[in-house]
Amino acid sequence: MGQNIISMRLIAPSILAANFNKLGDAIEMINQSEADYVHCDVMDGVFVPNISFGIPIVQDIHKISQKPLDVHLMIVNPERYIQDFFRAGASVITVHYETCPHLHRTIQQISDLGIKASVCLNPHTPVALLEDIIEELDMVLLMSVNPGFGGQKFIENTYSKVVALKEMILRKNSNALIEVDGGVNFEVGKKLYDSGADILVVGSFVFGSDHPAETIAALKRL
Ligand code: DX5
Ligand code: ZN
Repeated sequence: MGQNIISMRLIAPSILAANFNKLGDAIEMINQSEADYVHCDVMDGVFVPNISFGIPIVQDIHKISQKPLDVHLMIVNPERYIQDFFRAGASVITVHYETCPHLHRTIQQISDLGIKASVCLNPHTPVALLEDIIEELDMVLLMSVNPGFGGQKFIENTYSKVVALKEMILRKNSNALIEVDGGVNFEVGKKLYDSGADILVVGSFVFGSDHPAETIAALKRL
């Protein structure tokens, strides 16, 4: 694992792990913290076996968030809703590779709105499939658990995917940042940064800790 690989070391707390009765408090905590994004997990019960929240909630979060919204769409036909999530205040929109037969067009649709366009790969989807689109991407999100639920165990194979993706990004002269999502804690986070990950999504490890803002600060200094 290369210790001299450049990594942005950014943190995107996932509000999926927050207490939804106190969502405002969670956003306020994130505002006061060193977090770089608010990660919003949108699930449709079709692409993934869970339903979370949609456009109105993202809109309400945007009204009080001082951090940019990183919207992760775990939904089929995401191209139908890109405009809606843009209007709701998304700064980054991530679509899943597995849901986009016309991925290039969908990415173009996001980029044309002037926000960051990102593709997510499920744990079984090889990084090599991004070879012909990597130059168009602002970010790649690697799932390090199967999407649908917070609190799952990190899949170790993700480290080598980060390394392979970083190699592709450098070789292709792409500006894409690498984000990793699922099962991140201090130990995993350190290894991910050292492998070349730029942004870590962290849900239960932040919201389950006694002092979430301090945990976020510590994650940035791994
Ligand atoms: C899973 C979501 C993740 C999840 C991460 O489908 O995409 O963003 O909230 O949660 P933890 O950090 O608890 O694995
Ligand atoms: Zn996510």
